[in-house]
Formats: sequence, structure tokens, C-alpha cells
Amino acid sequence: MRGTLLSMAAVALFSVTARGAEDMLIADFEGPDYAGWTVTGDAFGAGPAHGTLPDQQAVTGFLGKGFVNSYVGGDKSTGTLTSPEFTIGRRYINFLVGGGAHEGKTCVNLLIDSKVVRTATGQEDEHLDWATFDVGEFKGKAARIQIVDNEAGGWGHINVDQIVQSDERKQQEVAAAPLYEEALRPQFHFTAQKNWLNDPNGLVFYEGEYHLFFQYNPKGNVWGNMTWGHAVSPDLVRWKQLENALLPDSLGTMFSGSAVVDWQNSAGFAKGGEKALVAIYTAAGEPFTQCIAYSIDRGRSWTKYDKNPVLAHIVGGNRDPKVIWHAPTHKWVMALFKDKEDYALFSSPDLKSWTLLQDLTLPGCGECPDFFPMPLDGEKANTRWVFTAANGKYLDGDFDGKKFTPEGGLKQVDFGKNYYAVQTYGDIPESDGRRIQIAWMNGGKYPRMPFNQQMSFPCTMTLRNTPDGPRVFRLPVKEIESLYAKEHKLADVAIAPGENPLAGISGDCLDIEAVFELGDAQEVGVTVRGESIGYLVKEKRLNALGASAELEPVNGRVKLRVLVDRTSIEAFGNDGRVSLTSCFLPKADDKGLGVFAKGGKAKIVSLTVHDLRSAWPVAATK
Ligand code: FRU
Repeated sequence: MRGTLLSMAAVALFSVTARGAEDMLIADFEGPDYAGWTVTGDAFGAGPAHGTLPDQQAVTGFLGKGFVNSYVGGDKSTGTLTSPEFTIGRRYINFLVGGGAHEGKTCVNLLIDSKVVRTATGQEDEHLDWATFDVGEFKGKAARIQIVDNEAGGWGHINVDQIVQSDERKQQEVAAAPLYEEALRPQFHFTAQKNWLNDPNGLVFYEGEYHLFFQYNPKGNVWGNMTWGHAVSPDLVRWKQLENALLPDSLGTMFSGSAVVDWQNSAGFAKGGEKALVAIYTAAGEPFTQCIAYSIDRGRSWTKYDKNPVLAHIVGGNRDPKVIWHAPTHKWVMALFKDKEDYALFSSPDLKSWTLLQDLTLPGCGECPDFFPMPLDGEKANTRWVFTAANGKYLDGDFDGKKFTPEGGLKQVDFGKNYYAVQTYGDIPESDGRRIQIAWMNGGKYPRMPFNQQMSFPCTMTLRNTPDGPRVFRLPVKEIESLYAKEHKLADVAIAPGENPLAGISGDCLDIEAVFELGDAQEVGVTVRGESIGYLVKEKRLNALGASAELEPVNGRVKLRVLVDRTSIEAFGNDGRVSLTSCFLPKADDKGLGVFAKGGKAKIVSLTVHDLRSAWPVAATK
């Protein structure tokens, strides 16, 4: 038996290497020390790491037990690790790399005659992925590999393993797919054409267009060079990316903020018939201050106010101003993040001079405040104000233009893993009256894509009375229906364990609605590409992608709504009483769908699966 296994392994090995000469190992870091490599500084410790180091996010992707991890002592440690000299004998050098993306600072270098001739960084991810140097032109030359950690700030470390010379490249080349058709490109969620984005900024509706500004790195696929990117849409579904709106200046890079239509021309920026759109943002310089810029051509070009900043530095990294017009007091109101868990409200007659109204603390929260009125159960006479933090947790209460009086503690509507920096639209016409929110789906993974990070699908927020008191509900905006293609429907179907009435149906862009009568099942739900979105009956919890939310059934029934895109699943329970906004990296070959009952029988009262068309072809046409 043992012999058979060994000879099978030998065959497997042979078939891998048969295509070219055998790989030449430079280092696999499996030994107890760095075996002849020269160490400087304190970042690399005495020898290879054997896993995640204290306070580090989980490190994955290394081979065997040992690998290089310069997180020894955290990000602040620095140093270098240089290999003994070797001769270049193959076309490629392959290695696994993860960690920081600082060019020249957290990197793997190939040195020839002490000069850096090739270099690669991590991707701000603890996962180690293959990288490849094409070194054909250096065959026969003496070289060294140098691993550098010369960065003490965020992502100031590097992970490396399995450095080999080879006839084949292991780094997958980005498939040359047309823009917006790449394998992991969300098809109805906003992404930048290329490069990194984070927070939605300046959400405002004007003259038939929804504006979506966003924290953007025009120069790279990781966070940095903060600029306001810009896109517009007629329907919150089809986006067209425009020129960047706000570029870094002498006051700093452009951090998050908001935008308003200055209907009354309070700031005096308007010209001709065009109202001024005014952006209120943080200049993240030394120190952080709050500034304004205006546009009198529907957001196409922006002028920064020449007397910026309009609000001087208060404390720490104060930032992320969100502004709304308060008609009864005829004043603008700004919610601002101060520092740690502290926020403040200010008011202004003209967007240029601001007076402190009140300080607020939201335990466990930080960054990106939003502050807006919401009619309780749709009744204008019963309007309350809601204050949200970046993580979407909120307070609700009364606001008289001077003082916000929250009632009860912090509440939460979304429990997903990738829901952050939430912001709602301003200036939605009265006739529409919706409160529409977009979140940055922070932390999604898009390996080898030309873009990085996506927005959540826009949701309508409502405030409804529940047995627990007023609660925010959120559901996808109805405009998603404009993407509906084929549909599959079920009604009144009994379902027992092991049955799947959706067998044979597949897809990767879907809007699913299902009502279950729980019967005596222990769990009911749907599966999408191998992931379960399930309701646990006894625990009264909706679970999806490792996240979980408490949810009461209503009259023995639970209602699910699930939006599926190529790299995200947004699940909504009981008409948006709770939601789970999460990213995932699906298996490419599994597009199957399922509906299930476990531990007993349930009834599918109704179930509709809408296939969704891509939103991009229209937007991509300039
Ligand atoms: C939230 C945040 C904001 C800041 C911006 C910088 O994700 O940290 O507080 O303004 O991102 O990009």
C-alpha cells in the first residue's frame, strides 16, 4: 500500500515537472533559521515564522510550515533579509508574497551587481499569492534575492515563501477581458473602472442625476493618494464614471465628506440658472481640516473655496463632514467625526462659518457620521432623526435644529461582514421622498482584477414601529427591477430534507425572494454557489457567509431577499428588518442554486428567482 502511494506521488511529480526542467529551489524557509541569508534590523526575528504572529490578521497561502513574516514586533519593526548569491539558470523566479504594498519599502527585490533589477510587493493582504520575475535576460548571472521591510506604518510588513527558479511562471496573468467583463467584476454594484476605492462620498441628487463620489486612489490598487472619484447615474443602477472631482492640494489629500445642492444660494456660489453643488470634505493634511468646493456645471468641474478651511482643526483626525439643510431653522447642519468614539453637530447659515451645536459619543463607533430625518411609519408629522456611524450603528430621536436628543441606545440593522462608511443621499425630490443608503463593502477580495473594492447596492431605508420600538429597515431600491431577465417561480411547495426544487437552475447575478412557512424544520434557506443563506428556527437567526442576525418570524413565516453578484451576497430578512451585507469569493465552476429545509419539513409559500442582466454595457458606453 505504502509503495503504491509513493509511486503514485512520483508519477504526479513527474507529470508536473515533465514540461520543463525541474524547478531549482532558492529557499523554502522550512529550516529552524535563515540558513545563510543575511539579516539586518529587527523585523525578521531569528528565523522563519510558523504562522500568524501576535496581533496580525490570519496569514494564509504559505507552503509547508515555515515562511518569512516581517511582522515580528508588529508593523513598526524594519530590516532586510538577503540571500546568498546564486546563478540564474531558468527563465523565471517564482515566489509567494503577501503583506504590505509599499513600493520599494515592503518588497522582494532581485539584485544583480547590487542593483535592484526586479521588484514586487504584497497586496495589503495577509494571503500569500504567487509572483513571478521574468529573468530570461539575466541567465548565467550571479544574483541575490533581498526581502525588504523598510516601512514602520500601516501594512509595514511582508510575507514571503517558496522562492524557486522555474521554466514556468506561476503568477497568473490578468485575463485580458474587456472592461467591466472581467471574471470577478461585480455586474450591478459600483466599482471604479480601475484602481482602489473606499467610502461613498457626496451622495446627492440633482437635475435627474444621482451623484456618487468616492474615496479613490487614481494611482494604484491599494488605499492611498485620496482623491474624490466621481460617477453619475439616472437610476442608481447604471453608472458612468466621470473625471475625478477633487484632487489633493496644499491642505492635504481629499478624505470623506458630503455634497448638497445650495438651493437658496446661501454661499453665493451660484451663477446663471445653475444652482451650486457644494462639496464639504476633509483635507487630510497637517492638521485635518474641513473644507468646501463648488460646481456650477452639475458636478462636471469643481472649484475649491479660496478661504478654505471653513472649519479649523478641532482634535486628532477630525473628519468626514456630512451636511444637511434644516429648513425650520433655515440653517445647514453638519455631523462631524471628531476622534475615537466622539462626534459633534455644527450649524451654519452659509456653509462657510460653523458654530458648534453639540458633542455626541457613540460607544464602539467611529468615522463617517450621517444625520437625517425619517418619518416614522411614513408619517411626516411623526418625523424622527437618525444619526449613523461608519459601521451603520445608529441612534434615533428628536432634533429641534439645535439639539439632538436620542432615545434609547445604539441600534443596528446590518450585521454583514462588509458594510462600512455608510452614507445616504441628500436632495432626493420630495415627490420621491426616499432615504437611500450606500455602503462601502470594505474588505472584499478581487485577486488579479484591475479594480479593488465595491459599493453595496443602494438601499431604501425606512423607520418603522416594531415591538422593540422604532427600527430602521433597509431593502434594495426598486430600480433593480430594470435588470430583471428570466424568472423562475415556485408557490405552495412542501419541502423536505434532501429536496431541492431549484436543482438545475444556476446563475451568478440574481435577485431571490422567498417566503417560508417554517413548519417543523430546524433550518430553511437558499444556497448560492455553495454558500448558505439560512434561517435557524430555534435560534431565530439569519446566517450567511459567517455573519448572523437575530430575526423573529412573523406568524410562523420568514421572508428572505437575497441579491447575488459575482463577489457579494446581500441578504435581507423580513422586509429589511435585518440585513447581512457581505463579500465572497465564489468557486468559478459552481453557479448552482438551491432551496432547502433541514431537520424537518417546511413550505415554500412563494419563491422567485430573477436572473439579473449586467448594468455595465450601458454605463461603459461614453
Ligand atoms: C473611512 C475612512 C474615513 C476617511 C476615509 C479615508 O473608511 O477612514 O474616516 O475620511 O476613509 O479614505
